[in-house]
Amino acid sequence: MQIPSELKERLTSSKKILALTGAGISAESGVPTFRGKEGLWKEFRAEELATPQAFSRDPHLVWEWYLWRMDLISTKSPNSAHYSLAELEKKKSDFFLITQNVDGLHARSGSKKIIEIHGNIFRTKCTGCKKTFSSQIEELKVSFKCKECASLLRPDVLWFGETYNSELLNESIHLAEEAEIALVIGTSGAVGIPVELARIAKSNGALLIEINLEKSAYSSLSDYFFPGKAGEILPELVSYFS
Ligand code: OAD
Repeated sequence: MQIPSELKERLTSSKKILALTGAGISAESGVPTFRGKEGLWKEFRAEELATPQAFSRDPHLVWEWYLWRMDLISTKSPNSAHYSLAELEKKKSDFFLITQNVDGLHARSGSKKIIEIHGNIFRTKCTGCKKTFSSQIEELKVSFKCKECASLLRPDVLWFGETYNSELLNESIHLAEEAEIALVIGTSGAVGIPVELARIAKSNGALLIEINLEKSAYSSLSDYFFPGKAGEILPELVSYFS
């Protein structure tokens, strides 16, 4: 991989690093992305199931899809791209990671400074008392009822048409404003707010580095675009940070 010398210099001298990840970073772990060929479940697209309307219409169908995804993710492990970001966190004290992924693989690879801006599939939230719980797949297979108030549980993830958690969003905006380097990895940009975060970083002077198999909605903002697999490119890129 060719890394221009001026980029190597920026990787060394920059302190505030922000990584923004999407489903592509987990693809090499075997977790299907949303918009690729394997993004379908039965005949449904994510946009048809991950909505409050779909859940109120047919909570069992939506839960069936989430349980299928939870089962699948439980059998997968972090890959070299996740591990590289955990290593980068150790190298740079001002590193932070914002992920759109709900799969929890960043935490399992050792990353600690993470904002899961779209939630986590291994947590549930009660539609009645609003408490959150860590999800036990086997328990959910028996009942979707809250242990405390018996209302319906839902996955603690952001659905289409819902507003972002304002605390997490404000923290993310702040990180984007402060970033000297923004690494955008494996995300299509089909969802607007994360693209907006990249735009904020860029307009506040961050250098934007993108890794993706193909061009995305972020690419017009990118200063450097590295085409290819995150699991191959990221370990080498991270080796230049010191
Ligand atoms: P998408 O499925 O929309 O996009 C995945 C991106 O990863 C694509 O641009 C692929 O080209 C790229 N990609 C695939 N494999 C890769 C690899 N090995 N290395 C690098 N890049 C790779 O997923 P997201 O952009 O994460 O939101 O989708 C954003 C949001 O839409 C999700 O968080 C979810 C979804 O609906 C909500 O649920 C709110």
